[in-house]
Amino acid sequence: MPYQSVTLATDGGIATLTVNRPDKLNALNAATMAELGTAIDEVIRRDDISGLIVTGAGRAFIAGADISELATETANSARALAIEGQRIFRRFETSHKPVIAAVNGFALGGGCELALACHIRVASEQAKFGQPEVKLGICPGYGGTQRLARLVGKGRALQLLLTGETIDAAEAYRIGLVNRVVAADALIVSATDMLRLILANGPLAVTACIQAVDLGLDMSLEGGLALEATLFGLLAATDDMREGTKAFLEKRPAEFRGK
Ligand code: COA
Repeated sequence: MPYQSVTLATDGGIATLTVNRPDKLNALNAATMAELGTAIDEVIRRDDISGLIVTGAGRAFIAGADISELATETANSARALAIEGQRIFRRFETSHKPVIAAVNGFALGGGCELALACHIRVASEQAKFGQPEVKLGICPGYGGTQRLARLVGKGRALQLLLTGETIDAAEAYRIGLVNRVVAADALIVSATDMLRLILANGPLAVTACIQAVDLGLDMSLEGGLALEATLFGLLAATDDMREGTKAFLEKRPAEFRGK
């Protein structure tokens, strides 16, 4: 479908979703947010897409929610905005296809929150991260208070949330906010290489890992272990498991079919 504020391109099973409002540093206005929702639904639905890279056009990844729109929100409308944004970002997080954020520049506010909702984050050396909402008199509304603390720990999350300070890619890597930092011109290649590594594996197994980590993090250890054992058993009944183990024993690459 045609998009105005994002682009969605596919190449060899990998889709690249680019937020494309570079003159506003890709700030998330209502139209852009809606298109992100439509685009992730399209990615999840299309059989010719196996994995997704999310990035931004120009010098920013996403510089946050569009402040010109935020300025007119009321208590009710802001709550509804947060709930809808959280729903859209949760679609990225629960995608059964792997999603990598390729963070090319400013990832502030909602931009940092979208990166947090992706499964893995690769950052350019020029990337900058922060949750500056408190400087506007608000708190994050698209999951930042929850996902940041889960990813980097309570103390580091609170430091970022309470100061609103921006950190560079090296610091983001040091605290575990990003998985890898690369030169700016190597960003998409690096994210694509990582995605291809993932896509060479059994797709059902990859999905099971995403689900087990996503659901398990909010369960008791007992519950998470039970979930893992169930998924492990289900995967052992698949053709892909037969193929994966057979290929290893025959010393050849596996050819997974997702069945
Ligand atoms: N919402 C709306 N517009 C935004 C925006 C946002 N979150 N972030 C940047 N823009 C716009 C600017 O208003 C400017 O538009 P203009 O050229 O029409 O005036 C354009 O994008 C370029 O931004 P500018 O501030 O001139 O670039 P900079 O390099 O001087 O500063 C930032 C970059 C990211 C430090 C600065 O834009 C910024 O602080 N943005 C807001 C970040 C934020 O608070 N996000 C959380 C929102 S909840």
